[in-house]
Amino acid sequence: MIKKVTINTLKKIKEEGRKFSVLTAYDYSTAKYIDEAGIDVVLIGDSLAMVALGYETTHSVGVDEMKIFTKAVAKGVNRALVVTDMPFLSYHADVSEAIKNCGEMIRLGANAVKIEGYSQYILQVVTRLTETGIPVMAHLGFTPQFLNSLGGYKIQGKTKEAVDEILQQAKDLEKAGAFSVVLEMVPQESAKYISENLSIPTISCGAGKYCDAQVLVSDDVFGKYSEFTPKFARKYGDMKEFIIDCAKKFDEDVKTGKFPAETEVF
Ligand code: KIV
Repeated sequence: MIKKVTINTLKKIKEEGRKFSVLTAYDYSTAKYIDEAGIDVVLIGDSLAMVALGYETTHSVGVDEMKIFTKAVAKGVNRALVVTDMPFLSYHADVSEAIKNCGEMIRLGANAVKIEGYSQYILQVVTRLTETGIPVMAHLGFTPQFLNSLGGYKIQGKTKEAVDEILQQAKDLEKAGAFSVVLEMVPQESAKYISENLSIPTISCGAGKYCDAQVLVSDDVFGKYSEFTPKFARKYGDMKEFIIDCAKKFDEDVKTGKFPAETEVF
């Protein structure tokens, strides 16, 4: 029997000094395959705004779209922890709206939600979600939903003061109930310091090797999304070329009459 990954599994992995893997997925079959591959956490990232829907930033994706992707991914996963990234403006207006929107994702099969940023209000949201039985993954450092306020894709936590601030925010989020925290675009040494001083697991998104886990966007890993690849992403395949190659061969076979063959007709 498959043993489901839970938030306790991730906590234990950190306590034992081991690492876990996190990949994004946006559709049923990709989710199924990365789950079969042994990925521990499958994240329905709001990065789907760019890689699956062709928008320019994550701001354009809404709750209704995230629901569709959550439903599809959750159906494909048996073992991994399924986490839905809550989109821009889905948890900001008030706590009850946050609970309603996050709760919808749990109803559709997610095991937890991810929310970005830090403020006294966000701490309240994390506390209430946790009390409601909705585990929360926090997200600090560079937070894409704050792109306009941060003034672009900038590395965060470069000075001692800035690292201490992120660490304090992470500790407050941990106290409020967050079970893990994504650190995005933080220098490796800063992320090391934060990881060593926090009991919940840190998940690196371009924050180096000392975090307890690593997350990447699956389309970057598969070489599928080619418009922009961050410096910290590693490409393990060339799905773009594979798709173009298969499509070209099919096109040629159709136009030269090689498809369908006798075995492919009724
Ligand atoms: O949207 C996303 O995919 C993310 C991860 C890369 C952390 O937030």
